[in-house]
Amino acid sequence: MDGAAITDLNAVSIGHDVYWVGAFDPNLRTFDLILKTANGTSYNSYLVRGEDGVCIVDTVKKEFQDTFFARLESVCDYSEIKYIVLNHMEPDHTGALPELLKRAPHVKVYLSFQAQNMLKGLLKEGVEDLDVTTVTTGDFIDLGNRDVAFLNTPFLHWPDTQCTWLPECGYLLSGDLFGCHFCDTRLFNDLVGDFRFSFEYYYAHIMRPFKHHVLQALDLIEPLDFKLIAPAHGPILREHPREYVRRYHSLSVPRMRKETKVSEKTLLIFYMSAYGSTAEMAREIHAGAEGVPGVRISLYDLEGGELKPFVDLIEEADGLIFGSPTINGDAVKPIWDLLSSLCSIHTQGKLGAVFGSYGWTGEAIAMIEDRLRGLKFRVPVPGKKVKLIPTDEELEECRAFGREIAENLTGTNAPKVIDFSDLL
Ligand code: FEO
Repeated sequence: MDGAAITDLNAVSIGHDVYWVGAFDPNLRTFDLILKTANGTSYNSYLVRGEDGVCIVDTVKKEFQDTFFARLESVCDYSEIKYIVLNHMEPDHTGALPELLKRAPHVKVYLSFQAQNMLKGLLKEGVEDLDVTTVTTGDFIDLGNRDVAFLNTPFLHWPDTQCTWLPECGYLLSGDLFGCHFCDTRLFNDLVGDFRFSFEYYYAHIMRPFKHHVLQALDLIEPLDFKLIAPAHGPILREHPREYVRRYHSLSVPRMRKETKVSEKTLLIFYMSAYGSTAEMAREIHAGAEGVPGVRISLYDLEGGELKPFVDLIEEADGLIFGSPTINGDAVKPIWDLLSSLCSIHTQGKLGAVFGSYGWTGEAIAMIEDRLRGLKFRVPVPGKKVKLIPTDEELEECRAFGREIAENLTGTNAPKVIDFSDLL
């Protein structure tokens, strides 16, 4: 490989009898309905040759299977293929699998335990006739002069994901991990254009909700003496591959923890206010929560902020309180904009609560609570509603509301007594 663009349909050697047999998709502009792909993407499939046969790692999207088979046929005969490894079952990597199984019906399939049911869903029929083996960290295939080993790296970004490790040459075939939607036919990271934006964008939209699982995967990957990372999308990382692993690490470790005490909880209050009542409630809730030791509280008027920094803050917060007036039977748009931006972060188990002033019926409170539950927040304290202007008594109730939420965060709240009549 001398730096020229790939214009034919041959396999591309990446060294040590490993070949790229993937496909370029330069015209794609949206991936999975949510990701922008300004110059398309690639579906990277790999062929590993050993003394005892050939192993294929991942395939390509179905529409590109002719390209995949042409590249594959340029370096091997179907009778040589002994194994197919599926690092990930999403159709952009398994689209050519049904046809490959027809052309090489004798192969053994290796995948993660979680991928088994997905394989049934994908193939619909004939699965019972396949020779399928589930694998995890420590398992490997013996190809004679080399091994094809496995790392169990689930939830990156589906439950089934795993990495394949070639220990003799130090190549990590990482699936979606370390990938990006960037189409450049020069293929290798030291030859292609500037893909930093695509790498960061891909992490932010695909891996970010699974930071905890990224760090678990890095625990397995960082100790390896890897020489090259070959992801399932975008450039093959053969120059300074460890830089990309370091970047994943720094993007995945919590930042706020460095500034807060380990035992301290973080609570954020976001609000919008039309006539000042919801803002007044917010200040009282803030004051009430502030009286509880061990909680660091921040108060933000959404009118004066932008979404992205707020999403970053929310990602590392333990508790969130949202305040909105009810206008035309709904919460106000900035609140919905913020809540709809939370799908790119992990929100499960965070504490959520809602408050707001209203004129007629105050539907916004229950609507926001429903959304929080949909995002797997826990919502232990019923929302606080005030009709129009809060009275002194209602402001005192707001302080109690803030205190109760902060105590829930620190675990210092009084045990809840459930009256039998509440269950009827
Ligand atoms: Fe590239 Fe999750 O598929």
